[in-house]
Amino acid sequence: MNEFARRYAAPMLMAGALILMALPASAGSQPIGNAEDGAKLVDQWCSQCHLTKGATVTTDTAPAFINLMNDPAYTDARLQAWLTNPHPPMPKIGLTRQMIRDVIAHLSTLRRTTPR
Ligand code: HEC
Repeated sequence: MNEFARRYAAPMLMAGALILMALPASAGSQPIGNAEDGAKLVDQWCSQCHLTKGATVTTDTAPAFINLMNDPAYTDARLQAWLTNPHPPMPKIGLTRQMIRDVIAHLSTLRRTTPR
């Protein structure tokens, strides 16, 4: 073992162990996004085309999120597939997987807020 390894091996093992111990807390059956971060992302990246939050005014451009999210056919899986690979006329935005989780977490808060 060289000097560098001797000096840093133990701290690095400790850090690794800490990361492993922290993982199970966040590794649920379904990855959970952060709805607050998602709300910011939606404001920044989606609101120029989509009606966000509770807005339902009809538009001929893009579907209002509240309508989408209250369509029973619109599952998280479908949302995730779309956001991973949107097709025209919606542009490819290039969200990371974490951003997509956050956006889904936020959009899910719109579910069942209007009577059907
Ligand atoms: C430049 C305009 C534009 C932006 C920005 C945009 N969209 Fe869209 N989006 C559209 C249009 C137009 C459609 C309708 C596509 C269609 O019906 O084929 C659409 C459709 C969708 C759909 C429905 C897809 C389906 O399966 O029918 C979802 C979900 C969606 N957008 C989510 C988002 C989210 C989330 C963002 C922000 C991260 C976003 N969009 C940003 C224009 C946009």
